[in-house]
Amino acid sequence: GSLRDKAEELRRRVEDRIRFLQDLGAGFVFRTEIKPPAPPRVQDKAGVIGPLEAAVRSCTLCPLSAGRTNAVPGEGSYDAPLMFVGEGPGADEDRLGRPFVGRAGQLLTKIIAAMQFTREEVYITNIVKCRPPENRTPFRSEAEACQPYLLTQIRTIAPRVIVSLGKTATDFFVPSTAGMSDLRGTFQDFGGIKVMPTFHPSYVMRNEGDPRIKRLVWEDMKQVMAFLGKK
Ligand code: URA
Repeated sequence: GSLRDKAEELRRRVEDRIRFLQDLGAGFVFRTEIKPPAPPRVQDKAGVIGPLEAAVRSCTLCPLSAGRTNAVPGEGSYDAPLMFVGEGPGADEDRLGRPFVGRAGQLLTKIIAAMQFTREEVYITNIVKCRPPENRTPFRSEAEACQPYLLTQIRTIAPRVIVSLGKTATDFFVPSTAGMSDLRGTFQDFGGIKVMPTFHPSYVMRNEGDPRIKRLVWEDMKQVMAFLGKK
């Protein structure tokens, strides 16, 4: 019918428009693709990550720096085969300057142990290194200001697998309008490094009444373990 034709025509015009804006590099339509890191070349990892952590602690690249008690660069092994990336520090992390040490952190610590790793053997960090006010989702501008730190951490540590916790972290590696239910559970590629998106531990805790969510996280982590040779 003619109504369907009109709808189809409109859809095609909107698609053309979006493609045009994307071609112009309009990050306000869809997040512009982040260039994956070059292959690892770094020999002296501590010589890179040490100064990076110091730089993060005194960083003023975005307005989040004004509201922090402590910046939270990340922690763990500089040779970690496995990296976890969350969204940003919460109140406990801001107070202590360490990632994932609050309630969500305790759950993440249990997950890491269940995967037969210790926190010291993996590397744990976030998209933004300073706490957003009221724990709101970081703005894209804040994530972009902080992005060089995470890219350098990834390039230097060169883990075999990155687990992206929740939508904000997953957006960094695989920008998409899809939700976590669709994105979780399938390995993605980020410049030759495998990325496994899974639900954020805070989301698991908010849905404690629905054991299916925890089970899905565990399925995702078992895939990571299998890839890393843990059984
Ligand atoms: N939630 C996060 O995303 N990161 C932390 O470090 C703590 C809680």
